[in-house]
Amino acid sequence: MGSLNAEWDALRRLGNEHRDRKILSLFGDPERARKFTAQTGDMLFDYSKTNIDAGVRDALIALAVAAGVAEKRDAMFSGEAINDTEGRAVLHTALRNLDGGPVMVDGKDVMPGVLGTLERMRAYARQVRDSDITDVVNIGIGGSDLGPAMAYQALSPWADGPRCHFVSNVDGAHIADTLRGLDARRTLVIVASKTFTTIETMTNARTARAWMEDHGGNPGAQFAALSTADQLTADFGIPAERVFGFEDWVGGRYSMWGPIGLSLMIAVGPEAFDAFLRGGQAMDRHFQAAEFHESLPVLLALTGVWHAQVCGHASRAVLPYDQRLARLPDYFQQLEMESNGKRVRMDGTEVVVDSGPVVWGAAGTNGQHAFYQLIHQGTRVIPCEFMIAAQGHEDDLSHHHQLLVANCLAQSEALMRGRSIDEARAKMAQKGLSGDELERQAQHRVFEGNRPSVTLAYPQLDPFTLGRIVALYEHRVFVEGVILGINSFDQWGVELGKELATSLQPVVEGTASAEGKDGSTAALVGFIQRNRD
Ligand code: F6P
Repeated sequence: MGSLNAEWDALRRLGNEHRDRKILSLFGDPERARKFTAQTGDMLFDYSKTNIDAGVRDALIALAVAAGVAEKRDAMFSGEAINDTEGRAVLHTALRNLDGGPVMVDGKDVMPGVLGTLERMRAYARQVRDSDITDVVNIGIGGSDLGPAMAYQALSPWADGPRCHFVSNVDGAHIADTLRGLDARRTLVIVASKTFTTIETMTNARTARAWMEDHGGNPGAQFAALSTADQLTADFGIPAERVFGFEDWVGGRYSMWGPIGLSLMIAVGPEAFDAFLRGGQAMDRHFQAAEFHESLPVLLALTGVWHAQVCGHASRAVLPYDQRLARLPDYFQQLEMESNGKRVRMDGTEVVVDSGPVVWGAAGTNGQHAFYQLIHQGTRVIPCEFMIAAQGHEDDLSHHHQLLVANCLAQSEALMRGRSIDEARAKMAQKGLSGDELERQAQHRVFEGNRPSVTLAYPQLDPFTLGRIVALYEHRVFVEGVILGINSFDQWGVELGKELATSLQPVVEGTASAEGKDGSTAALVGFIQRNRD
């Protein structure tokens, strides 16, 4: 990969040239919606409500080509150690390679191991579903929590197994509130931790074990572990038959496809979980085969690059018009921000453009009544990513779904179209206002518009489609990372805070002095110590 200076310069020029162009004006081409939409299977990605025209798209694709996206993609799928700050391959795709060929790491096919573990998970999930276990508590954090928690809610129409609960925060309130009301004799605790050293997870796991012992349960039989760390799970007392392992080439935030998804599999059953994997695999095949101008992951990434790195919009909102995807923005927040929130490139030099944007959002329509005010009229432009299903699951409530769809489409239309001062004045005149008061009120009702959005549409949220959505965003993050030249698969930025928390723990407990700490930290520790009893 070269410096990409020429490609970035070309894009900056286009960005400046089109800064004030109205997106709506691009629809002067009656074919625009078709030309700026891509489809894989029955999933449609519409990026026509952006300021991207054919020239911009060509320049973005030229950037992706020059950055070596195709070569890096192939290197990832073929098991090369592309996570080079940790010296690891990146093969979460192998976890959903249900009927693909061999996947080699260091000359060895990893698929027999992957498929063997999957078969053990299926057998165990069936066993739990057939037992008198009523509740499953997944204890994990970050990638060992967000994926299964998000998907459990997303696939609730398929959830016919034990209830699942997810404990992540080290705040004792989280585990206390979760365990309260559960029957310790009929609860399965799954300790989900790739490393099996994460302080939050191990603290919660020990608390859950003590609770189970105190309340008549049997931790020896009712604990399972999902981890790469065989010795540590054994030390914790979980027998090997209930340990579901994976390899270090599965990153935490990419791990819900394998053992970390066990709670989900228990909830929805192995068949639905398989459909989820097949959805991911279908997106992998699309990513590997489609030309860039037809590839959903590449086009989604390129709209992201256009908005964040070229236009300079510092955040993006993920807005699923799907209540069951309410946790998806949280999930994407880790996926994108932990992956692409970096300051240096692979070679240790500084990134030359802004790195990953802030990702946030909420389920529509709730967001409309909370933060859309700023999206529509605030001074910063926030590109939006809408998601909508053609139909819901509640057949007798289809009128709700039609309202949901109308709201979703109305938002992207309003963001693009806006409302001019003349339209606002006409509205005020209709209300009987005139003179200065009309003018003053009209100003408040102006929407600048020209705010970009993309929309992902699909027939219905089912396990296969959820798999496609998650894999689509994984690959989008990957493509953006390649273009930025960074390693999307490490997370050194979480280390410093962890180290300082470890050193602060005895200070907070009062067994070590705050000497050497800055004045603010020492004063805060002092305040907390004086006020805690
Ligand atoms: O926050 C850092 C991190 O390492 C994440 O990348 C990961 O998903 C999370 O902690 C949990 O890690 P583990 O699964 O090892 O407990």
